[in-house]
Amino acid sequence: MKNILFVASEGVPFIKTGGLADVVGSLPKCIDRNHYDVRVILPKYNCMHQNKKDMLHYRDHFYMDFHWKNEYVGILEAEYEGIKFYFIDNEYYFNGFKPYSDNALFEIEKFAFFSKAALSILPVIGFRPDLIHCHDWQTGLIPVYLHERFAGSDFYRGIKTVMTIHNLKFQGRWNVKDVQEITGLSDYYFVPDRMELYNDASLLKGGLVFADVITTVSDTYAEEIKTEFYGEGLDGLMRARENDLYGIVNGIDYTDFNPETNRYIPYQYSAANFRKEKVKNKRALQAELGLDQDNKAMLIGIVSRLTDQKGFDLIAYMMDELCQDNVQIVVLGTGEERYENMFRHFAWKYSGKVSAQIYYSEELSHKIYAASDAFLMPSLFEPCGLSQLMSLRYGTLPIVRETGGLKDTVQPYNEFEGTGTGFSFTNYNAHEMLSAIRYAEHIYRDKKREWNKMVERAMAADFSWYVSAKKYQEMYDRLIDQTDITEV
Ligand code: ADP
Ligand code: GLC
Repeated sequence: MKNILFVASEGVPFIKTGGLADVVGSLPKCIDRNHYDVRVILPKYNCMHQNKKDMLHYRDHFYMDFHWKNEYVGILEAEYEGIKFYFIDNEYYFNGFKPYSDNALFEIEKFAFFSKAALSILPVIGFRPDLIHCHDWQTGLIPVYLHERFAGSDFYRGIKTVMTIHNLKFQGRWNVKDVQEITGLSDYYFVPDRMELYNDASLLKGGLVFADVITTVSDTYAEEIKTEFYGEGLDGLMRARENDLYGIVNGIDYTDFNPETNRYIPYQYSAANFRKEKVKNKRALQAELGLDQDNKAMLIGIVSRLTDQKGFDLIAYMMDELCQDNVQIVVLGTGEERYENMFRHFAWKYSGKVSAQIYYSEELSHKIYAASDAFLMPSLFEPCGLSQLMSLRYGTLPIVRETGGLKDTVQPYNEFEGTGTGFSFTNYNAHEMLSAIRYAEHIYRDKKREWNKMVERAMAADFSWYVSAKKYQEMYDRLIDQTDITEV
């Protein structure tokens, strides 16, 4: 049995702001239980839903030296669908209304605390991982601390680390002086070969330098981050470590995302009966959101964090023109105020055609994936993207920009070969996006049989975790077995 520990800042079903939580919640369940004991550490946020908090049980607590103070570290635990989750409790750090605040320095302190605490609780819970799988900048200090202060003890010696990049843009970056004071790390770590990044310190960089292996969530993104445009200042490091850098595409939970059984969608359907049943979900959503009752309007769904990454400036630029067509647009999302207001404005201007739902709702997200004809995701960059996978599963054809995981998971329609599961465009250009949408409209309206065949192919595409979980297992084996050889 191999012990694997996931450490992350969010995970379904306990707390979620984006795709990271989906991955942390669904991947551990798909790792072979006969050979791996996978456990997960998350923060115990005060903003977790009460019914989630009710699932947690107190396990233990102790005090830990951190940032000149002696900080309380509470440990809670829960078992969910066969996976053991541990939660680190500290009122000061995890008290906010949201998991993350806008105070960058506080976030760094919070997740430095979390990373150190995650390592410190291991002897207390009696779980000695063979490998720690770290996710994103919030856990970047784990490989660093393991190298530095924990390396001297027998318990920690030889633990392998994997750092998975879900988004290179967020790095936990701040000036060296403050980061050094918070982390207590020596000068040795604050040089350009280690955590320093153009005179600042980057917590993610620390993880990427000290982890045994780096992975990211699609092959294309693994290539892209070696270039300056996508590299966020770390492209040099990515090139230097390219032999330890792997792309493993994300999957989604095929039990949760199942149009035949999902309880949020009013009319369940399958690949066999979507022609009749799927449109009923569209009618129901149109009624629910006050859109015109119109089967023929191509309903375009968007479920997203409203940030630059997702290409909303292209959409803003083309909205007026797009709304001249017989389309409807439904948006569910929260994020930057300018995008929230942009969609509110268009919902007012084109009432009956555009609906802006500016909040977070699991239930409505499923309804949109099920009811829409097409799903729009013109991202500037996209490490993997899960929304397009959810759309495919629900037979809703993605319209995407060819970047990162979008390129790897959506096969563009080829009318001559009769292949493809969606529509795509290459350059980050609003007119190219509009052409792709209009091409989709044309197939939707004038070649319905072709459209429906594409829906069949989309629903038949397999983006469950089955294949990718195996790749992670192989990587874990490679790393852990290598330890055994050197230690004998
Ligand atoms: P990212 O992680 O960059 O936000 P992904 O496509 O990987 O993008 O994952 C986004 C996840 O968050 C999907 O599960 C999507 O359905 C969900 N999501 C985003 N915004 C909302 C929202 N407002 N309400 C419900 N779910 C949302
Ligand atoms: C990040 C990325 C997204 C990816 C998700 C899960 O939030 O933006 O592309 O799907 O992580 O890996």
